Amino acid sequence: MEKNKNTENDLISEATDILKNNQVGSYTVPSKLLYPHQWLWDSCFISVGLRHIDIDRARAEIMHLLRGQWKNGMMPNIVFGDNTKKLQLQRMWQSQVSPFSPDDILTSGITQPPLLAEAIFKIGEKLDKKERIIWYQSTYKNLIDYHNWIYEDRDPHDEGLALLLHPWESGMDNTPPWMNELHLNLTPKWIQFIKKSKLDYLYSFLRLDTKFVHISERLSNSDAMSLYSMQRKMRKKHYGTKKILGHNSFAVEDLTFNCILIKANDYLSKIAKTINEKIPAKLVESMDLSIKSLDKLWDEKTSEYYSRQFETHDLLKISSISSLMPLYSGAINKERAEHLVKTIEDHSKFSTPFPIPTMPVNSEWFNPLSYWQGPTWINMNWMIIEGLKNYGFQEHADVLTKTTIDLVEQGGFSEYFNPIDGNPLGIHDFSWTAALIIDLLNS
Ligand code: GLC
Repeated sequence: MEKNKNTENDLISEATDILKNNQVGSYTVPSKLLYPHQWLWDSCFISVGLRHIDIDRARAEIMHLLRGQWKNGMMPNIVFGDNTKKLQLQRMWQSQVSPFSPDDILTSGITQPPLLAEAIFKIGEKLDKKERIIWYQSTYKNLIDYHNWIYEDRDPHDEGLALLLHPWESGMDNTPPWMNELHLNLTPKWIQFIKKSKLDYLYSFLRLDTKFVHISERLSNSDAMSLYSMQRKMRKKHYGTKKILGHNSFAVEDLTFNCILIKANDYLSKIAKTINEKIPAKLVESMDLSIKSLDKLWDEKTSEYYSRQFETHDLLKISSISSLMPLYSGAINKERAEHLVKTIEDHSKFSTPFPIPTMPVNSEWFNPLSYWQGPTWINMNWMIIEGLKNYGFQEHADVLTKTTIDLVEQGGFSEYFNPIDGNPLGIHDFSWTAALIIDLLNS
């Protein structure tokens, strides 16, 4: 990365300050204002950045996440700290309703994209051999339990594709492929009524996020209400996947989640190899199947990858940044990878002045302000950069690295950015933006 050394150092020191300010005991919150707990994929990204500046803190970040692991292996998307009082969010989740939740710590009841193996592996890269082995050994069982859970619980038909039960599990809360389904089939009648009668504005008085960020940059009130209502239904079923699936719930084999899973399996194999462990045969079978099954998400007609409905196997044919994630998975051939790179370069799709937008600009859903419906997110760029490098598109990776760093240099360490004018959006001083900029500047 060719960058003025002073600018680089300034950015790293600003990012380090943000990560320090967002530290709560042994973990880091995404934002003290808006997300004052520990989030799963956030902390994976955060520890990848922290490993360059404070390796002990990077390890502690992961160990705190692991405290929240469920007895069935699930990694919840939110872990509450010891020091958090009975807060609204804990009351909302009530993880104790599940027999699998941990005894000594409160969590949410759903998961998030599985970046844990990559975070653990990358922290290991910064340790000397002896310490690396100890680190991998101390986390290996957790990883095996976690990946086993993904397949046993979330791939009930042994298809090699994990299903998700809530848009929050995708990490991209209002991503259009999910929201379209929600609007068509899942919005409860009472929410439809409230929306029609234009009473949904009343919900804004209850929301926390819109106290800090303008509603045009967040989910609409009716969508937010629908997501909370889905969560309540899951709680009523004690977060049991079978029970939830048995009640006409909507389940999606999410493209981004499964690409991350394939990549995570690869990191898990590398970790196992380093410590001479043998991954259980059944898990290896599922891992291999995932690589093959990615092809089931490819649509020949539109030449694109999509998420899929779990029950009907219908592809959710709405383009989004997920369509590019097979690049990160590493599981597609060079020809397909080249095709995706062309899509990134296409001005009618993902090539905007401040790339990469979470929706292609030619989509009817594209909105440069609205959360996961258009804005550029640093974590998605970071994963795509990794994919570009792995497929040998080094120049493309360098350009995207530069535009990503420039975007943050101009707009600050925001949660997301307008892909057209580069303006910062969402909350400021966002932890994964800080951590991943540190990582990009060190790569
Ligand atoms: C929002 C994001 C999600 C993130 C969380 C905490 O819900 O959509 O990806 O993990 O905030 O930052």
